[in-house]
Amino acid sequence: MPKRRPARAEELRIRRARDADLARLVEIENAVFETDRMSARQWRHHLANPRADVLVAQRAGVLVGAAVVFSHASHGIARLYSIAVAPQARGSGVGQALLAAAERASRARGRARFRLEVRTDNAAARRLYERRGYRAFGTKARFYEDGGDAVRYEKMLAPGRVSPSRP
Ligand SMILES: CC(C)(COP(=O)(O)OP(=O)(O)OC[C@H]1O[C@@H](n2cnc3c(N)ncnc32)[C@H](O)[C@@H]1OP(=O)(O)O)[C@@H](O)C(=O)NCCC(=O)NCCS
Repeated sequence: MPKRRPARAEELRIRRARDADLARLVEIENAVFETDRMSARQWRHHLANPRADVLVAQRAGVLVGAAVVFSHASHGIARLYSIAVAPQARGSGVGQALLAAAERASRARGRARFRLEVRTDNAAARRLYERRGYRAFGTKARFYEDGGDAVRYEKMLAPGRVSPSRP
C-alpha cells in the first residue's frame, strides 16, 4: 500500500485576491494598521485596477495576509503599496512569500525595478526587505498620515534575479 502523505492543511498558498475576499482583507487591514488604513472602497478599487496586483496568502483555508503592488504604465517601476500579515500568522514566512510573489508578478509585467516605502522605525519590515535584497536609497519626511517618516527601498528585478528563496 502506498505511504500516505501527511495532511497539507497548513500549506501556504499565494493567489490573486477576488471580490469574495473583501471582508477578510478589511478585517486584516484593521487588525494590522492604526493609521493609513485602506477602506473597503479602496480595496474594491484596487481589485478592479488593471495596473494593480492584489495578492493574498491563505493557510488552512483562511486568509492570513495580503500585498498590493502597482505597475504604472509610464515607467518600468513597480511599487509595493501595502503588505500586511495577520498578527497571529507572523514569523512563519507569510510576509516573505507574499513579497516574493509580488516581485514575480511585477517581473511578469516587465518591470525592472521594485520600490517601496517603509516607516523608519518598522524593524520587522525593514529586515524582511533587506533579507530579500532591497537597498535603502532615500527618505520621505512626514510620509504617513500621523507624520511618520519613511525610508525608500529598491530592488532590481532583472531576469533571473528574483528567486522565491532568500538571498
Ligand atoms: C512586516 C510583516 C509583513 C512581516 O511578515 P511575517 O510573515 O511576519 O514575515 P516572515 O515570517 O516572512 O519573516 C521574513 C523576515 O522578516 C523579518 N522579520 C519578520 N518579523 C520580524 C520581527 N518581528 N523582527 C525582526 N525581523 C522580522 C526577518 O528577517 C524574517 O526572516 P528571518 O526570520 O529569517 O530573519 C509583518 O510583520 C506585518 O504585517 N507587519 C505589519 C504591517 C507592516 O508593517 N507592513 C509593512 C509596511 S511597509
